[in-house]
Amino acid sequence: MITSDTKATLSFSDGSAPLEMPIYKGSIGPDVIDIRKLYAATGMFTYDPGFMSTAACNSAITYIDGDKGELLYRGYPIEQLAAKGDFLESCYLLLNGELPNLTQKKEFDYLVSRHTMVHEQMQFFFRGFRRDAHPMSVLVGTVGALASFYHDSLDINDPHHREVSAIRLIAKMPTLVAMAYKYSVGQPFVYPKNELSFSANFMRMMFSTPCEDYPVNDVLVRALDRILILHADHEQNASTSTVRLAGSSGANPFACIAAGIACLWGPAHGGANEAALSMLEKIGSVDHIPEFIRQVKDKNSGVKLMGFGHRVYKNYDPRAKLMRETCYEVLAELGLANDPLFKLAMALEKIALEDEYFVTRKLYPNVDFYSGIVQRALGIPTALFTGIFAMARTVGWVAQWKEMISDPEQKIGRPRQLFIGEPVRTVKPIESR
Ligand code: CMC
Repeated sequence: MITSDTKATLSFSDGSAPLEMPIYKGSIGPDVIDIRKLYAATGMFTYDPGFMSTAACNSAITYIDGDKGELLYRGYPIEQLAAKGDFLESCYLLLNGELPNLTQKKEFDYLVSRHTMVHEQMQFFFRGFRRDAHPMSVLVGTVGALASFYHDSLDINDPHHREVSAIRLIAKMPTLVAMAYKYSVGQPFVYPKNELSFSANFMRMMFSTPCEDYPVNDVLVRALDRILILHADHEQNASTSTVRLAGSSGANPFACIAAGIACLWGPAHGGANEAALSMLEKIGSVDHIPEFIRQVKDKNSGVKLMGFGHRVYKNYDPRAKLMRETCYEVLAELGLANDPLFKLAMALEKIALEDEYFVTRKLYPNVDFYSGIVQRALGIPTALFTGIFAMARTVGWVAQWKEMISDPEQKIGRPRQLFIGEPVRTVKPIESR
């Protein structure tokens, strides 16, 4: 597949023979040095905790230029996708590599809508959870449990099975997320309504009851759709790498996506939108910002400015710009233009962007800085924010998992280590220890 004309030479100060390694060029972005033969040739591993300099795979799906603040799905800028299409269009693109034409779009929308219901027995899984369970714990459990219901799409070597489980996951996630919410508030589950768009259907499953229908508001539905588009994929982030690693053993897609959801839950990843909103609530007022910033700068305080900073973006996260715009639209639509939390977020952003600590470290707002405010305005409870992220990211996980399965270079993921523990020793009888 990938070929190379250029090489890197690794030389050793102890007089060992130098090693030549091929360099591969991507279509854009940094080149990579192929170190796969390093261990066989030298008996050494590379050491890269956190994968700071490691490309774990090749991929044609999503490209990020962190310095420019650029995000492309299959070559298309996120700004254009968010402005010109809906979430299912981005799903089609991520899965198939091209934007759909009108007929393909209609067929795809139909296909997804025909898979929105979950097996009726899933209800009993929900009943096993406490009502106050965190929705992410419920989602890890119920998404993993889907594998017990859809045995007819578990053969990962069958392209048709892979396709069917991809669509099932994308289509059923909103139903499961809404069920997790309904369960937590003690309301009956609402079945999907397939004549509605993906996002309108989700809002209805969340907010209607058997006694009262949910009037679809186009501005709010569009805002949710935008949140979904912006979170749909983000190349080899922690949860996607988790899905790939889980999938590299041949595990079924439902189990792999459950693993991705577990990883996403962490506050350094998908949990940041929830953490960012809690942080704003805790700061409480613009007057408290200087004291909060002081704590953030104090390394011993353990306080971070949530919704700021990113492993890849060393510039304004393009998703954050779009989310800020959406924030304005939603708050205006709901008559909340003077929302104190939004004002606080704007003031905090301004102060942080001018502060030397953040400037020198290239810490800018990421998508989660504003997405919590939008979701709160839509009526989504804080604990469900990361669930919404999971619902959006499912397509990215699935697209990356499918790409991995079809990659002839794919192997089981098995990192190595630098061992720093005790060398071999002898077990003494317990009385003499
Ligand atoms: N607040 C204060 N200081 C920070 C922050 C922050 N949010 N983020 C990074 N730093 C500091 C960090 O302490 C370090 O300082 P120093 O060089 O003095 O030791 C420097 O900036 C570099 O940070 P790092 O920890 O080496 O960066 P990383 O790439 O390992 O971490 C991150 C990236 C996203 C985990 C981190 O920026 C963070 O924890 N941010 C807050 C959580 C957050 O908003 N996460 C959402 C990410 S976007 C959504 C997603 O894709 O999941």
